[in-house]
Amino acid sequence: MQNKYRVCVIGCGVIAPNHIKPLLENETTELVAVCDIIEERAKARAEMGNCAYYTDYHKMLEEVKPDAVHLCLPHYLHSPVAIDCMRAGADVLCEKPMDASYEAALRMKEVAEETGKRLGVIFQNRYNAENQTILQSLRSGDMGKLIALRGEVCWKRDQAYYNSGEWRSDYATAGGGVIINQAIHTLDLLRYFADSPVADVRATVSHHGDTAAEVEDTAEGLITFENGARALFYFTINNFEDEAIRVTLKCEKARVESRAGDCCIRFLDGHDVNVSNMDHAKNSGAKACYGSSHAIQIDDFYHDPDGSRARWMMDEALKTQKLVDAILKASQGVHA
Ligand SMILES: NC(=O)c1ccc[n+]([C@@H]2O[C@H](COP(=O)([O-])OP(=O)(O)OC[C@H]3O[C@@H](n4cnc5c(N)ncnc54)[C@H](O)[C@@H]3O)[C@@H](O)[C@H]2O)c1
Repeated sequence: MQNKYRVCVIGCGVIAPNHIKPLLENETTELVAVCDIIEERAKARAEMGNCAYYTDYHKMLEEVKPDAVHLCLPHYLHSPVAIDCMRAGADVLCEKPMDASYEAALRMKEVAEETGKRLGVIFQNRYNAENQTILQSLRSGDMGKLIALRGEVCWKRDQAYYNSGEWRSDYATAGGGVIINQAIHTLDLLRYFADSPVADVRATVSHHGDTAAEVEDTAEGLITFENGARALFYFTINNFEDEAIRVTLKCEKARVESRAGDCCIRFLDGHDVNVSNMDHAKNSGAKACYGSSHAIQIDDFYHDPDGSRARWMMDEALKTQKLVDAILKASQGVHA
């Protein structure tokens, strides 16, 4: 059996346990150290992971020499820290989005190619059972041509949320609000299902709520793909609670309704296919709103002998980052 990958995690905030737990359970990985500039956070996650902790990632890279590093950091740090890790000889699995900016994300890809290191980006919802079923039905041709898609995210994030991590408030550090932070998974799925380059984007991006954040809290728009499919989206964090995310697809031979992991594919010939991600989510021990598929994507990243899985993760993440950029530009009248 090959030696285990010696892995570090940088950033010990909200999402870190969704990496630490799978890394402890996966037979191919050994969690060796975690790092956070806030010592209590690093210490608490090190206790959870039964590993060493650091408050300076440069020192950790130098002393531990990990095979791979998982980044659970504010968006604007993804590109520079990933580049430092790859140059230090480690593969990188980075939380979504690739970075706060498309240009910085491109630099990450350049350095991955230059160093030959694998760079993956977490978009765990692609691995959810319902989304895999939709994807297979689309690609097999069972549902006929895809005509239209719709994604709706109505969640609640108030000032307390922004106070809990100030980087989330500004374009410079987060790259945006509801689009890049909360709804990016849904945007990624719309793009992934459409399976076609983006031809045009029309969008309105606003700040309607009463938080002091600079970033947008509402976005709506229409994406046209080169294959003719059109995706309508509405994203807000001004709702009174986190409601189930809805994704709807209209195809020539079927209609898909997916609501928080409960999905029904209704074929025009009268038969239905139902699939649910909910039981899996309940059993995963992960925070349900993030889905349960971090462990599956992490496993995929570590079973990648020729690097093709990581390359796919990187290239798909870059396409979604470009779409985020296009939406923000379209809202200022600059169209793709
Ligand atoms: N996949 C998902 O569903 C999902 C869900 C939530 C968050 N995320 C993503 O995870 C990432 C982190 O989000 P979060 O909510 O955990 O943020 P957070 O603010 O809770 O955690 C970030 C941590 O990074 C630490 N940090 C900052 N600079 C550092 C540095 N130079 N070295 C080491 N540590 C440093 C901070 O002290 C903080 O503890 C973001 O990219 C976010 O979008 C993904």
